[in-house]
Amino acid sequence: MINEFGKVAVLMGGDSNERAVSLLSGKAVFDALKRLGVVVETFDPSERNINEIKSYDRVFIALHGRGGEDGSIQAALKSKNIAYTGSDSLSSAIGIDKLKTKLLWRSLNISTPDFLQVTEKTSYAEIVNLIESPFFIKPSNEGSSIGIDKIKSEKQYQDAFIKTSKIDMNVIVEKFVDGEEFTVAIVNGKTLPVIKIKPTNEFYDYEAKYIKDDTQYICPSGIEKNKEVLISQEAFEAFRAIGCSSWGRIDFMMDKAGHHYFIEVNTSPGMTSHSLVPMAAKELGINFDQLVLEILKTADVK
Ligand SMILES: Nc1ncnc2c1ncn2[C@@H]1O[C@H](COP(=O)(O)OP(=O)(O)O)[C@@H](O)[C@H]1O
Ligand SMILES: [Mg+2]
Repeated sequence: MINEFGKVAVLMGGDSNERAVSLLSGKAVFDALKRLGVVVETFDPSERNINEIKSYDRVFIALHGRGGEDGSIQAALKSKNIAYTGSDSLSSAIGIDKLKTKLLWRSLNISTPDFLQVTEKTSYAEIVNLIESPFFIKPSNEGSSIGIDKIKSEKQYQDAFIKTSKIDMNVIVEKFVDGEEFTVAIVNGKTLPVIKIKPTNEFYDYEAKYIKDDTQYICPSGIEKNKEVLISQEAFEAFRAIGCSSWGRIDFMMDKAGHHYFIEVNTSPGMTSHSLVPMAAKELGINFDQLVLEILKTADVK
């Protein structure tokens, strides 16, 4: 029995678009903590009053998307003086917002693809002039590739803009990086080995993430060792630049010339047995339960 953590709540579920994944993450974390002998219960903030969280000593946040990853639950926990895993409220709020994240990175010379915030007034010609075609359209605040599309024509852009602006009034377009996709996990101040993601779809879309089962995950990533170390250090700086702490994941693309571009930070990554952070930990010989414990240790009042 591990008593040092007191009574732990695994926050899971919630009411975001990513509820289903969060329930899987939360269940996997709960099972791991049980196996480790931690006193633990699950807690779904969409079913219980968040004030009841006061009866716990520590919280493991396994919520994804709006509500759980955007700083609001973090602010609620802070106001109750409860220790929790993951980044604080402000950095979670910035991290879920691609526009704010990229503005911050750009201002610090951290590599991220060229981008532009678009409104109904922005013309297709303007976009193509600035970032060429094809390009990506994204809602600034969302996850799981929802509302994201690769745009190749004016008609496609117009349809996509209508769809994406319904998800979030802040819409960005981003230069297409023609190359490969990677992710690097950060846990307790250290980066884990980089994973290469090879979807069979045109990009790592919702279907590739959650429905189809044919994406390849390659770890070690195949990036030359010294280069991987440098990119990982930069990823850590990109993480810290947002103010993030505890644990998280940074996604990046690498073009055919070998230049890398950070595309986003995930402040509450998936924790199912198939998720990326557990996969990277495994490469270092850290099993799922050890990883969960390592993350739980980072919980503090912030
Ligand atoms: N600039 C880009 N160039 C090429 N592919 C991209 C680019 N931006 C996103 N993608 C693809 O779209 C996917 C989802 O984009 P991402 O910004 O990570 O949003 P989400 O928060 O929904 O995961 C990425 O995993 C990648 O496959
Ligand atoms: Mg992503």
